[in-house]
Amino acid sequence: MIRLGKMEFLDIVDYIRGRYGINLEKKKVLIECRLRSELDRYGIASFKDYMKAVRADESGQMAGEMINRLTTNYTYFMREFKHFDFIRETILPAATAKNKADYQAWCAGCASGEECYTLAMIFQDYREENSAMPAAHITATDISEGALEHARQGIYPMKELGTLPPKWQEKYCTVRDEKSFEIKKLLKKDIQFKNQNLMEPEGIRKRYDLILCRNVMIYFDADSKKAMISRLENSLKPGGYLIVGLAEVLPREFTTLEFIGAAIYRKPE
Ligand SMILES: C[S@@+](CC[C@H](N)C(=O)[O-])C[C@H]1O[C@@H](n2cnc3c(N)ncnc32)[C@H](O)[C@@H]1O
Repeated sequence: MIRLGKMEFLDIVDYIRGRYGINLEKKKVLIECRLRSELDRYGIASFKDYMKAVRADESGQMAGEMINRLTTNYTYFMREFKHFDFIRETILPAATAKNKADYQAWCAGCASGEECYTLAMIFQDYREENSAMPAAHITATDISEGALEHARQGIYPMKELGTLPPKWQEKYCTVRDEKSFEIKKLLKKDIQFKNQNLMEPEGIRKRYDLILCRNVMIYFDADSKKAMISRLENSLKPGGYLIVGLAEVLPREFTTLEFIGAAIYRKPE
């Protein structure tokens, strides 16, 4: 069995931290287990040669496959649901009152899509009850192509259906068979999925009214966190909101955003 040596491990940790911001310095076993199958697949005999091949691959395909294996894509519908209550009760009424042409939201680090579909359900419901609500568009991004493909398909195991309110189960989901259900096109059509590395500022062009970047920077080291917070801040329109995960606090010295409440921040107008 191919083992991951100490120098090889440190090289992979450095590579992933430098390119994606993720800190894996305590994850030797995870790296060894998850990447071993990549070595097998390519018929490569050591982690050192594997990293050589990843670096030499100008197409970026091997790096993409590697990060796909190493990311933690855990998520679920209605996660940290108080944020969705805040969006419905505070953010959307304020956006509607402004009488804008459209409303741009970004789920950064969307994993397999449950978060952006929950957001789309909130938007759709709100719009039906408030015709003045601007047309909402959601951009959902991640670096894991596997997770993004799952999100694009919007097909989930049946056991996840029960985590949605019964009204939404019927309105927004189609049961495919006894094992799975699918999100309806009505929601999919307003979401654009994109592979985007949050550590590459050139990929981030638009300005958003709302950014959800929840449970992404918990895996980042301090420098990457700081760089990412500044990028997210720059991507907000004045008056826009940034919502991070409940376990993630933006250190005051890293941001000029106003703290509104439990992991919710706002850019001054
Ligand atoms: C734990 S999931 C969180 C999913 C969802 N936001 C939630 O709160 O349930 C973290 C996601 O962040 C993505 N991620 C990590 N580093 C990233 C980076 N540098 N750029 C873009 N996405 C990243 C991972 O691929 C993973 O899907």
